[in-house]
Amino acid sequence: MSKTTITLLPGDGIGPEVSAAAVRVLDAAGAELEWERHIAGREALEKYGNPLPPEVLESIKRNRVALKGPITTQVGGGFKSINVQLRQELELYANLRPSRSLPSIPSRFEGVDIIVVRENTEDLYSGLEHIVVPGVVESLKIITEKASLRISRFAYDYASRHGRKRVTAVHKANIMKLSDGLFLDCVRRVAQEYPEIQSDDKIVDNMCMQLVMRPEEWDVLLLENLYGDIVSDLCAGLVGGLGVVPGANIGLEAALFEAVHGSAPDIAGKDLANPLALIRSGIMMLFHLGKDEAAERVRRALRHVVVTERIRTRDLGGEASTTQFTDAIVRALESGV
Ligand code: NAI
Ligand code: MG
Repeated sequence: MSKTTITLLPGDGIGPEVSAAAVRVLDAAGAELEWERHIAGREALEKYGNPLPPEVLESIKRNRVALKGPITTQVGGGFKSINVQLRQELELYANLRPSRSLPSIPSRFEGVDIIVVRENTEDLYSGLEHIVVPGVVESLKIITEKASLRISRFAYDYASRHGRKRVTAVHKANIMKLSDGLFLDCVRRVAQEYPEIQSDDKIVDNMCMQLVMRPEEWDVLLLENLYGDIVSDLCAGLVGGLGVVPGANIGLEAALFEAVHGSAPDIAGKDLANPLALIRSGIMMLFHLGKDEAAERVRRALRHVVVTERIRTRDLGGEASTTQFTDAIVRALESGV
């Protein structure tokens, strides 16, 4: 079988550690991948004078699939987030983030199975900010009918194909009557095309309360970009934290797989990071590529290591380092569990 070429952006902070782990695991699973490595972010700025060199975008456009570690974005000043730029430049309009309870991963709740579908290209991430007069800043929230309909279709189509029962639109249309109002109107228009799926909506603050009270009641959540960012970290917290939740950024021309978490500077370079979130993003990538058998092999190996052998990293109450945890998964794959 010929190998599939994947653009690999290891990222920074814990990125190189978790990316190396994911590559080892996917290779050991016989996924037949070839990796085309590129750098972006501060490292690329220092080396090439550009934090997002054109080769990165060209490589992803050519290969159509990328696996990416987190990239640090400076707070306040500095260059515009590379993560956001990649999503916008490649029109990766749908951000899919499944938060599922896993057996033997410690968390306050059981039976959580929430799919966050986040609009990925507009909203307050438009980057349109300016100083009106000293002491007054304006930040523009852009919501379009085109992007709102597109993400709604994605969410309902996903729900329909994956046998999900309910889609809940999350918004603040009571306050942002025009922008969130347009988003909600678009969701409702698309919902009519899917009578078999239960549709409802919740105001975002109420949604946050409901999620931490009764997380097992929610199914697919459909949100604009900023609410989606915040609520997906909240959902990660319901199922064991940022160390476990994977993600996919999907567009018509390309798909980029990355964990929900960031570069975790507090634990970077210490062999402490949990690579599970990026490995599970790799599983989503394998399914996207139609490599279902390899994906299932990785799934079984993770289950074996985490549930049966009870080997876990420290964020999950275990003792294993990134390397030890990864070694155990590779061992499980090699022994064919
Ligand atoms: P973060 O997600 O990096 O870390 C939050 C907390 O979770 C930290 O205590 C960290 O140690 C822990 N954590 C995260 N991932 C973990 C893992 N795999 N294993 C064990 N513990 C883990 O969020 P933070 O600190 O707010 O952001 C750090 C940087 O990451 C910022 O520059 C931010 O812009 C960037 N970022 C990048 C993202 C991306 O590349 N897509 C996404 C989110 C943030
Ligand atoms: Mg985030």
